[in-house]
Amino acid sequence: MTAASMPAPAALPSVEPAPAPAPAPAPTPTPTTTPIDVDALLARMTVEEKVGQLSLFAPVAAGTPGNPATRQRSDTEQRDDVRAGRITGFFNGQGLAGKRDLQRLAVQSSRLGIPLVFAADVIHGFRTVFPVPLGEAASWDTALAERTARAAAVEAGADGFRWTFAPMVDIARDARWGRGVEGAGEDVLLGRRFAAARVRGFQGPSLAAPGALAATLKHFAAYGAAEGGLDYNTVDLSERTLRDVYLPPFEAGVAAGAASVMTAFNEISGVPSTANPWLLQTVLQGEWRFDGVVVGDYTADLELVAHGVAADEVEATRLAFLAGTDISLQSGLYRDHLPGLVASGAVPMARLDDAVRRVLRFKRRLGLFDDPMRGLDGPDRTDWPEHRALARDAAVRSLVLLKNDGGLLPLAKDGPRIALVGPFAEGPGDLHGPWTLFPGSRPPVGLAEGLRAALPDPSRLTVVPGLRTAAAVAAARDADIVVLALGEREADSGEARSRTHVGLSPVQQAFAERVAATGKPMVVLLRTGRALALQGAVRD
Ligand code: NOJ
Repeated sequence: MTAASMPAPAALPSVEPAPAPAPAPAPTPTPTTTPIDVDALLARMTVEEKVGQLSLFAPVAAGTPGNPATRQRSDTEQRDDVRAGRITGFFNGQGLAGKRDLQRLAVQSSRLGIPLVFAADVIHGFRTVFPVPLGEAASWDTALAERTARAAAVEAGADGFRWTFAPMVDIARDARWGRGVEGAGEDVLLGRRFAAARVRGFQGPSLAAPGALAATLKHFAAYGAAEGGLDYNTVDLSERTLRDVYLPPFEAGVAAGAASVMTAFNEISGVPSTANPWLLQTVLQGEWRFDGVVVGDYTADLELVAHGVAADEVEATRLAFLAGTDISLQSGLYRDHLPGLVASGAVPMARLDDAVRRVLRFKRRLGLFDDPMRGLDGPDRTDWPEHRALARDAAVRSLVLLKNDGGLLPLAKDGPRIALVGPFAEGPGDLHGPWTLFPGSRPPVGLAEGLRAALPDPSRLTVVPGLRTAAAVAAARDADIVVLALGEREADSGEARSRTHVGLSPVQQAFAERVAATGKPMVVLLRTGRALALQGAVRD
């Protein structure tokens, strides 16, 4: 029996040969591109406008893709906010035309004309979907990660995005945690290397160049150490473990020039990261000399109340902001409460100016003041054929061959009669992986469809999709080789997708045992977002 594990692969839409690796962009420091004088601009800003630069929202028109719905203004109020300079930008936006329209509004109609910045969760590709980050890390190929991040940046940049909430560099050692799929896995050295490579790939040689995305190291810190593998849960660990295991990939990403960092939802030993001055100031700014922007995760400032460290929204705002969280994501807390806190003296104006300066410098570094419409005026591209060969190459390199008893693989194209059976045997579903918010117009090619197209004689392939045990056993008996397509659905991994059981589902396991009992040579093709504890027929 042969088992091949395929961690939620990318679409394999065509069969172009893999190209020679493109030369990696040189990790040179990003130049400051424009003469805009940040301090002069700051001096002209009202407190309301300053606070606006620290408030980032999902566009009402698009909902909150990838996130739970939360309290929202209306579309009209949001446009009024843009006109009044009360919003710094939007994330996971609503298409090119919507972004174009909002940017025009900000630049032409707000008093100071400060451009918006558009951010997105570009996690493993944009239109072209690359392997999930965990799968890609299984290639051990950091140059590959740099190339796929680069391609994603080019595509997202052409859609007006300038900032990605990636890479996730959380070390993940508990397979029950669903978000391990978004990072490089459990190993610290590999985590460091992939963090740096992905930052270089997203940002390229200059953030101001077309096709560059500002990278965000997330989730700072130790989000992957949630107790019991339960997403958002408490983290309680020693400073030694924090420094030896969980912080190094962040440090490597900062050293590679990451322009931003996102705070984690979790607490560490009783202190939520979003309100942790030791983490955000002593370590990040002090020890690592990070001078970019710190964005709180989605409503993480508001959640300080749920954590029990803040009595109310006002205290949550004060704690998050004074700790070093520069930008409030989606809660609106800074917009609503910072002006009052500054007026009362509870938050010094110097801290407000420091945060706004960071954001304006960030926008300057992105070249936004020079060219606010960059990427917004072009055609709406949903297909990037020039990146397809890279996607295929990345998918191939991300496959992990766990065993190959008797040299069963590779299968001869014109050889055996194959029975392809199981829940993932056909169709385009469950091929993208989680956090694919902007897939291109071409659906991925399912296993059966791809195999049929590749075989000289497709009649030698019998497909029994789903968990139809009797039909699968019959097909196996009539074939020379059985291919079992098993694993996890796309939605079994990702945010809030913790599992208590990290094996195959019991029904899939029973199905595999019945098919294996035919005694036919068997190839198990696993598609997963985490390491599975394999047993029985799928392991032996
Ligand atoms: C919450 C997730 O934890 C984070 O990774 C993501 O970037 C934000 N939502 C924004 O979508």
